[in-house]
Order: sequence, then C-alpha cells, then structure tokens
Amino acid sequence: MATWVTGKVIRVEYWTDALFSLIVHAPVQPFTAGQYGKLGLEINGERVQRAYSYLNAPGNPDLEFYLVTVPEGKLSPHLAALKPGDELQLVSEPAGFFVLEELPDSDTLWMLATGTGLGPYLSILQEGKDLERFNNLVLVHAVRYESDLSYLPLMRELERRYEGKLRIQTVVSRETAEGSLTGRVPALIESGALEAAVGLPMTTENSHVMLCGNPQMVRDTQQMLKETRQMTKHLRRRPGHMTAENYW
Ligand SMILES: Cc1cc2nc3c(=O)[nH]c(=O)nc-3n(C[C@H](O)[C@H](O)[C@H](O)COP(=O)(O)OP(=O)(O)OC[C@H]3O[C@@H](n4cnc5c(N)ncnc54)[C@H](O)[C@@H]3O)c2cc1C
Ligand SMILES: NC(=O)c1ccc[n+]([C@@H]2O[C@H](COP(=O)([O-])OP(=O)(O)OC[C@H]3O[C@@H](n4cnc5c(N)ncnc54)[C@H](OP(=O)(O)O)[C@@H]3O)[C@@H](O)[C@H]2O)c1
Repeated sequence: MATWVTGKVIRVEYWTDALFSLIVHAPVQPFTAGQYGKLGLEINGERVQRAYSYLNAPGNPDLEFYLVTVPEGKLSPHLAALKPGDELQLVSEPAGFFVLEELPDSDTLWMLATGTGLGPYLSILQEGKDLERFNNLVLVHAVRYESDLSYLPLMRELERRYEGKLRIQTVVSRETAEGSLTGRVPALIESGALEAAVGLPMTTENSHVMLCGNPQMVRDTQQMLKETRQMTKHLRRRPGHMTAENYW
C-alpha cells in the first residue's frame, strides 16, 4: 500500500501561462532516474492524485516536477496555484520501469520527448550514471511553440558537460523557430530529417529509442518505426529497440 508523506513547496518556476515546475522538499524514498512519484492534494474533501516524473537527479533533495496545466484538469490547475511554503502530499515509494537498467546496450540511445515528457531524461542525464554503455546520446524535445522549450538552457549545459557525446535537437510543431526542426517527431524520422539534423542513423543495428509523453506521439512513432525500420518494442522476455512511457 502507498505511504503518503507531506511535502513543502520550496519554489515554483513559471515558464509560460501553462508550463511550470514545482520544487518540493519531502521525505520520500530514493528513486531511480526515469521513475515517477505521485502528487496529491485534498480537493473538496477528497484526495486527488496523479503521477509525475522526477526531473532532478536522484540524491538531490530539491525534488523537481515539470508540469503543464491541463485546462479543466482535476489536479494540475490546483498544483499550478501552489506557492512557496504550501504543503502537498506525495507517495513515498517511487514507481516505473522507464529506467536505464531496463534497456539493452546500443551504440546510440535516442531519448524522444513531447512536452513535459522531457522530465525523465533530464533526471537520467543530470545523474549521468550507467551511460558508458552508449557511444552517443540524443535528446529530442518536441513542443508546440518555441516558448515551450523551458529547459533549453539546462539541455545546452548538459550538452557541454557531455563533451560531444550528447546531441540536443528541438522540434517545434506550430511555428518555425531557428535551430529547431518544424513538424512532428514521426514524420521527421520517416523523412530522414531528424537523423540528418543530428548526424546519426536510427537503425535496428545501432539504436535504442526511448519515447515519453503524449501517447499519440508514442503510438504513431512506434508504428512508423515498426513498419519502416523493423523495430520492435523492448520487453524483458523479448529484447527489442523501443521503450516507452505514456503520460495519459
Ligand atoms: C507515469 C506518468 C508520469 C507522468 N509525469 C508527468 C509529468 O512529469 N508532468 C506532467 O505534467 N504530467 C505528467 N503525467 C500526467 C499527470 O499524471 C496528469 O495526468 C496530468 O497532470 C493531468 O492531470 P489533471 O488531473 O489535471 O487532468 P485530468 O482531469 O486527469 O485530464 C487528463 C487529460 O489531460 C491531458 N494530459 C494529461 N497529462 C498531460 C501532459 N503531461 N501533457 C499534456 N496533456 C496532458 C490528456 O488529454 C488527458 O486525457 C504523468 C502521467 C504518468 C502516467
Ligand atoms: N503548451 C502550452 O503552452 C499550452 C498552453 C495552453 C494550454 N495547454 C494545454 O496543455 C495540454 C498539453 O499541451 P502540450 O503542448 O504540453 O502537449 P501536447 O499537446 O502533447 O503537444 C506536445 C507536442 O507533441 C506533438 N504531438 C501531438 N500529437 C502527436 C502525434 N500523434 N505524433 C507526434 N507528435 C505529436 C504536438 O504537435 P502538434 O502541435 O502538431 O499537436 C506538440 O509538438 C493541452 O491540453 C493544451 O491545451 C498547453
């Protein structure tokens, strides 16, 4: 059974009208980079809880969650209204299998995210453990507008820290923006535009592909990679090339 603990909001970063990050202190159990916790608030006398990926590196006491306010959402608008000093509830135990130890070795590890699905990758990359078994790391953040690239400064900092091993590519779907590809992830892979921009191929021989965020993006990308590149879902009992986390 889940153990609930009380946390305190330390800081809130407002990136856009809809995107924000909560920095929380709470006595939760240690997690593995890529895992998620649960946040809960008492709303009209009942606790409303949802899953949120840890974005901070394990061991960092500043627990960080990257959120979007879903209009009419039951919980996210209430989390967006929290201020420093406010309390919230967290499940102490971390959960999830979107972690490096579940992945096979590969030459290139592709980390594809839409929107707030960026969080697990930033946790993995900030920690920087168990990445020696990949020669190349590619982080792709796909968003609607350039202004939604909230963590681009941190992504650039990580790119420098990894000294050429990590490549960053941003994708913007609803406008054109300098330095970003325009469109959606599956189409950009199918056309070869993503690989051309990054300078690495995405094949069954050299790649493992992680996907996180919008479930339609996850489904469409997996379908396309299956049909055009013969990639299969990675399972413990049957190793493959794709590992995914759906946010809804
Ligand atoms: C494993 C896991 C990890 C998650 N991690 C995060 C995270 O780090 N950050 C985060 O913002 N959300 C995350 N989510 C989604 C989160 O749990 C909630 O579903 C979300 O905050 C909406 O809750 P709500 O009560 O406001 O909306 P609800 O009333 O529950 O409405 C749900 C609807 O909101 C939309 N939606 C939900 N989540 C998102 C999202 N992230 N981006 C765009 N649209 C969305 C979908 O249309 C969905 O049908 C995660 C979900 C899972 C399963
Ligand atoms: N982002 C904001 O600033 C903002 C502002 C106000 C409200 N909201 C609300 O927040 C919620 C989530 O918005 P979000 O922008 O974070 O997440 P999102 O809707 O999941 O969009 C993120 C990215 O995923 C892309 N995408 C969607 N479906 C895809 C598919 N099948 N294949 C490939 N890519 C796909 C989107 O492209 P497309 O653009 O082509 O769909 C976009 O580039 C929505 O309810 C929205 O109304 C967001």
